[in-house]
Amino acid sequence: MLQLLPFSLVFFSSWTLHANAGNATFGTACSLSDQRLEVGTYQFQTDCDSVTFCNSSSLCDLKGCRRDDFPFGYNSTQTLPPKCTTGQFCPDEEDACQPVLPVGSPCQFNRDDECEGPPNFKELADRSGFGLNVNGSVCLNNICMWANATVGQNCTVQNTAYIGYSKTSEFVDIVSRDNCKIGLYCDSQHLACMQTKDLGVSCDADKECSTYNCMASGVCGPSANTPDHVATWVYVVVGVCIFGGVIGTLIGLYIFHRKDRDSEREKRHQYWREQNAFRQHIMQMQETARNSLLYYATPGNNSPRSTMYSRDAGGSDDSHMPMLQPASKSSGLRYHISDEDGSSESLVMQRKDPGRF
Ligand SMILES: *[C@@H]1O[C@H](CO)[C@@H](O)[C@H](O)[C@H]1NC(C)=O
Ligand SMILES: *[C@@H]1O[C@H](CO)[C@@H](O)[C@H](O)[C@H]1NC(C)=O
Ligand SMILES: *[C@@H]1O[C@H](CO)[C@@H](O)[C@H](O)[C@H]1NC(C)=O
Ligand SMILES: *[C@@H]1O[C@H](CO)[C@@H](O)[C@H](O)[C@H]1NC(C)=O
Ligand SMILES: *[C@@H]1O[C@H](CO)[C@@H](O)[C@H](O)[C@H]1NC(C)=O
Ligand SMILES: *[C@@H]1O[C@H](CO)[C@@H](O)[C@H](O)[C@H]1NC(C)=O
Repeated sequence: MLQLLPFSLVFFSSWTLHANAGNATFGTACSLSDQRLEVGTYQFQTDCDSVTFCNSSSLCDLKGCRRDDFPFGYNSTQTLPPKCTTGQFCPDEEDACQPVLPVGSPCQFNRDDECEGPPNFKELADRSGFGLNVNGSVCLNNICMWANATVGQNCTVQNTAYIGYSKTSEFVDIVSRDNCKIGLYCDSQHLACMQTKDLGVSCDADKECSTYNCMASGVCGPSANTPDHVATWVYVVVGVCIFGGVIGTLIGLYIFHRKDRDSEREKRHQYWREQNAFRQHIMQMQETARNSLLYYATPGNNSPRSTMYSRDAGGSDDSHMPMLQPASKSSGLRYHISDEDGSSESLVMQRKDPGRF
C-alpha cells in the first residue's frame, strides 16, 4: 500500500492535470471566467486543451506562443508556436508575445520574467539558480518591482502556501519572496531587508540562509543543489571490490570445474587404453592367423626357401603391417579423441572394417 501510494498519487495528479488542462478543442466554446490558477500548485487552468487558448470571442484558438522548449500536449506532426524573444514575454494564456512591463505594472503570479529589468540588472540579477528574481526584477503581489532594497530598507514580501505531497500525506510548503537585493532577505515581522545567514546559523525559513536551505533541525544547511563529493578512499574500495569480485569469480569457476575436467581426462585416458589393448589384441590375432597359415602351407616342396621367403615376406609384412595399421588406427583414434564418445565408437568401427579388407 505504501509502495502503491506515491505511484497512484503521481498517476492521479497527472490525470487531473490533463483533465484540468481542458478538453475543449480548436474552434469550440470556452469560458474566460473559468481561467484560474489551481489551488496548491498555482498552475494556470482553462477550458481549452493543451494546444489552444480561450480567445476574446470565447472560442478555443491555437496558441500564439510557448514558454517551454518542449511544450506539453503537442505531437510530432503539430507545429509549435514560437518562443518569445528578449524584451518580450509569453503570458500564462500563451496567446501572443507581449513586450515586457515597466516597474509598477500588474503582472501574473510569480512571473518575474514579465517585468522589465532595472538599468543595473547586471548587479541585481540572481545567478544562484534559486529563482529569487529574473534579470533583477520580481513580480510580488502581482506588481512589477526591482529587487533593489538594501539592508535595513523596507521591503515587500509575498508568502505563498504550496501543497506538497509526501508518501503518506499532504503538507504545506510556504515560499516567501521579496524585493531585497541578492544576499539579503526580507524579515516578515519588521519588513526590512536583512543579511542572509551562513551555514550552521539558526533559521526559520529557506530565504534566511545564503544557501537557501533551512534544514528541519532549524539551522542553515548546504545548498540543496550541492553535488555530493565522495572521498578518494571510497573510489579505491569500490575499485578493489570490483577487481576482487572478477578475480574471485574466475578462481571460483576454475575450482568448481576442476573435478569435471579431471574426470573427463580420466575418461579419455581409459578410452585410449582400451583402444590400445584392442589394437594389440587384433595384431596378436593376425600374427597367430599368419603363423598358422604358414604352418599349413609348408608341407611338400621347397620348404626352406618358402619358409625363408615367407619368413622374409612375413618379416617385412610384419614390419609393415604394424606400421601401417597403427598409422591408420591412430589417426582414427586421434579423430575420435577430439570427438564425442557415442558417434566415434561407430566411426572407429567403420574405419577398422575397410582396414581389414
Ligand atoms: C470535458 O470535461 C468536462 C469536465 O471535466 C466533462 O463534463 C465533459 O463531458 C468533457 N467533454 C468531452 C467532450 O469530453
Ligand atoms: C477565436 O478563435 C476562432 C477559432 O477558434 C477564430 O475563428 C476567431 O476569429 C477568434 N476570435 C478572435 C477575436 O480572435
Ligand atoms: C496529431 O494531432 C492532430 C490534431 O490533434 C491529429 O489530427 C493527428 O492525427 C495527430 N497525429 C499523430 C501522429 O498523433
Ligand atoms: C535585462 O534587462 C535589461 C534592462 O531592461 C535589458 O536590456 C536586457 O535585455 C534584459 N536581459 C534579459 C536577458 O532579459
Ligand atoms: C528600486 O526599485 C524601485 C522599483 O521597485 C524603484 O522605484 C527605485 O527607484 C529603485 N531604487 C533604486 C535606488 O534604484
Ligand atoms: C517601513 O515599515 C515600517 C513597518 O511596516 C513602517 O513603520 C515605516 O514607516 C516604513 N518606512 C518607510 C520609509 O516606508
